[in-house]
Parts: sequence; C-alpha cells; structure tokens
Amino acid sequence: MASATVGTIDIVAWFVYLFSAVMFVVGLHFMNSPKTARKGNQISAFGMVVAVLMAFIVLFAKGFVNTVAVVVLVVGILIGAVAGVVSAKKVKMTDMPQLVSVFNTVGGGAAALVALNDILTKEGVPDLVVLITAGLGILIGSVTFTGSLIAAGKLQGVKWVKKLTLPGKGVWNIVFIVLTVASFVMLCVQPGQRLLWSILTTLFALGYGLVFVIPIGGADMPVVISVLNACTGTAVAMSGLAIDNVALIVAGALVGSAGVTLSILMAQAMNRPLLSVLAGGFGGSDTAAAGDGPEGTMKETSPDDLAVQLVYADKVIFVPGFGLAQAQAQRELADLGELLKNHGVEVSYAIHPVAGRMPGHMNVLLAEANVPYEELVDLEEINPQFPSANVALVVGANDVTNPAARRPGTPVSGMPILDVDKAQNVVVMKRGRGTGYAGIQNELYFEDNTQMLFGDAKKSLQAVIAAVKELLA
Ligand code: TAP
Repeated sequence: MASATVGTIDIVAWFVYLFSAVMFVVGLHFMNSPKTARKGNQISAFGMVVAVLMAFIVLFAKGFVNTVAVVVLVVGILIGAVAGVVSAKKVKMTDMPQLVSVFNTVGGGAAALVALNDILTKEGVPDLVVLITAGLGILIGSVTFTGSLIAAGKLQGVKWVKKLTLPGKGVWNIVFIVLTVASFVMLCVQPGQRLLWSILTTLFALGYGLVFVIPIGGADMPVVISVLNACTGTAVAMSGLAIDNVALIVAGALVGSAGVTLSILMAQAMNRPLLSVLAGGFGGSDTAAAGDGPEGTMKETSPDDLAVQLVYADKVIFVPGFGLAQAQAQRELADLGELLKNHGVEVSYAIHPVAGRMPGHMNVLLAEANVPYEELVDLEEINPQFPSANVALVVGANDVTNPAARRPGTPVSGMPILDVDKAQNVVVMKRGRGTGYAGIQNELYFEDNTQMLFGDAKKSLQAVIAAVKELLA
C-alpha cells in the first residue's frame, strides 16, 4: 500500500513539475517585450509556487518529515519569502544588478547544498552519473556563491571590496582551477571517500570564486554578473539531474542558457572577447582607472541657452545614460521630446547596449515614459546620424560617450561608443565633474563643441521644458 502511494505520488509530482517547467518557459516568452514582461514574471512565479508546494507534498507523502523538519522548512520559506519580497520592492531600479548578484549568491549556494546533501546522504555508493552531476552542482554552485558575493559588493561600491586586489592573479586562478578539478575527479573515482573529496571540492571552488572575480573590475562587471547568473542556472540544473527533479532541471537550463546568451551578447556589445573578460584581462581594476585625465576646461551653459539651441534645431538626438535612471527623469525627457516634435524638430533617442546598469535599462526606462519604440535607435544605426544632428543632448550618460574608448590603454578601450562628439553641438547634463562607472574622466566634456549643464537631470530638464514653452508661447 505504502509503495503504491509512493509510486503514485512520484508520477503526480513528475507531471506537476513538468507543468511548472512549462510555466517557466511560457513566462520567459512573455518577457520578450516590456509590455508583457510583468505577466511573464507572474506566470513564472506561479510555476515556482506550484513546484514548491509539490515538493512539500512529496516530503509529507513519503514520510520524510518530522516536526523539527517542518519547523525548519516553514521558517526557512518564511524568511526567504519575506526577504525576497522586501528586497525586490525596496530596491531602486539602479541597484538591480546588485540584487541579481545577491540572488545568484543564494541560488548558487542552495544548488551546492542540495548536491552536497544528495552525495553525502545516499544509501550505499552513489553511481557515476550522480557523482558527476552532483559534483558539478557543488563545484559550480560554490564558485557562484563567493564570486557573486564579491561582484555584489563591488557593484554596491563597498569600499573594502572594491579595494581588494590579487597580486599574481593568473597564478592563483590556475592553482585553484587545478585543485578544484582534481578534487572533483577524485570524488568521481573514489566514491568511498566522498565526504573528504566533496568537502575539498566545495572549499577549493569557494576559493576559485574569490580569485576569479576579485581581479575583474570597471566596466566589465555586468558581463561577469551575467556569467555568474549562467553558472547559477547550470548548478541548479546539475542538482536537478542528481536528485531527478524535472522542475529544477528545466529552470536551471533556462537560466543557464539565457545567461550564456546574454553574456556573449554583452561581451560583443562591449567589444570584449568573453574569455578575456573572465581572465580579468580587460577593464582593469576599479582603482586603476583614475590616473591621467584630459586637460582643459569645461564650458557651462544654462537651461535658457539650451532651450534656444533645441527650438532652432532641425535634428536633435537625446543620449540617455545611467544618470537618467538615477534622476528618474525619463518622463521629463519624453515630455521635452514631445514638445520639440510638435514644433517640427526631428527627435530620436540613441540607445547604447550597456548604458545604465542592466541590459535593456534605457529601453525599459523610456518605455515606462511611453516613448514610441521606433524613436529608440541602436548604436550602429544612430552613429552615422550624429554629424547631421544640430544638438546631441546627453542626459546622465558618461562612459558610453567617452572618445577615450577609441584609443588603446584606457579602461574603456575597444568599447563601441555613441559618436556624440561628432554632433554639431553637444550639451551634457550631469550633477558635477565626477567620472562615470569606469572611473575615468570623459574627454568629450573638454571638446570645443561641448557645453555642460550641471545639476540633477530631472531639475535641469524641468527648467529646460519651462524655457522651451516660454519660447514657443
Ligand atoms: P555612467 O558611465 O555610469 O555615467 C553616469 C553619469 O550620470 C555619471 O557621470 C553621473 O555624473 C551622472 N549622474 C548620476 N546621477 C545623476 C543625476 N541625478 N542627474 C544627472 N546626472 C547624473 O553611465 P553610462 O554612460 O550609462 O554607462 C554605463 C556604465 O555602466 C558602463 O561603464 C557600463 O559598462 C556599466 N555597467 C553597465 C551595465 C549594463 S548591462 N548596462 C551594468 C553594470 C555596469 P555626476 O555624478 O557628475 O552626476
């Protein structure tokens, strides 16, 4: 009777997990467009709730849980749910990459623990397939755990994390890779000693996560976060294979493949070979950048002067960046665009693939302000248009406009930039004379055709809108 129940519950669970997996795929499909992304998130979250409930039912039906286990499970779920909801609700859009990185830490750590538990508690000697899949779950999950912690600290600007350096980074990388892989191989060939080898694999992989991410800095960090996201997915899929859970396998495979695709696309957008980013060969350290800056003076302008330039222009290109998100000035920028368009000015928005702090950041921000999609123009398409633009209005963008990227030897070298400096007139809105994310001064600000409008982008745009309305009245 008991075994009949177990057989039935396994079949039911398999179908329910499959249903959850389908929900993940459908949800991901809806995330293709900002219009349906919210719905996609809800569908995927529903799939996840169903999978968690099923896992709970399986534990009870198979009699795996005692009172202590129930308390631990419920408390764990409550803590996780409250922390997830509060952090997701509270986090600013501009801090989202750090949150993703923290979630990667938790995801990688959880996958490693599931795999570790599976190897250590299996009755008898686990077969080779379990050893390989669970071993990889431990290895990749542990690397992701420490790597993502460091990445989150760097992105959050935690001073001591940003200051971490690793002399002889290449040597440490090789040492930890060799030790980690050797322990993993030993785990597979000596399953009788699995306690020793799985613990050593965990420790060396945790160490590798540190030496892998510490040397990487500056503008390359988004690619690293994306790679670690792919690692989380792969670790989860490996743990799913080890414990034979279809929902984990599909969810992990989706995250893993999406993360790999995104990493490759981002590395291409920054013109960085992915392997060189991961070897810490580009981007430099966070502290290396400040050095020799461009010389000269920055010329200032006023909202009234800018309004005159805009109203008498035939063609204006807006160049949004991280500062637009920071100032939450997307609606003001869209309003200014509408005013100018109604006056007969041609207006477009130049979108750099890594402007802001996450892929598609500017698209999402401007879609929120109902800017028509056809006015958002990609880098390759907009660059030839800058020479014919009377005004390029840069709103809180910095690194993605820095001509230093065209020369070798700078932290942004090789990254394709928006050719803002080729516009007839350039006006840059930013709060002060500080550097961008990569930590270097922008040569654009010292060019003859560039003027600076200092101040918070939202307030500056409001002042410009008022001045434009006055001119057009
Ligand atoms: P950044 O180089 O970060 O420059 C943003 C500029 O906005 C800063 O110079 C800042 O100058 C200004 N700013 C900040 N708050 C402002 C406000 N309230 N009002 C007006 N200006 C404000 O931005 P970017 O050009 O968009 O380049 C993105 C950088 O982030 C790249 O280096 C990229 O690699 C990196 N990154 C990208 C991603 C993705 S996937 N998009 C993820 C992580 C990192 P002030 O302080 O003087 O105001």
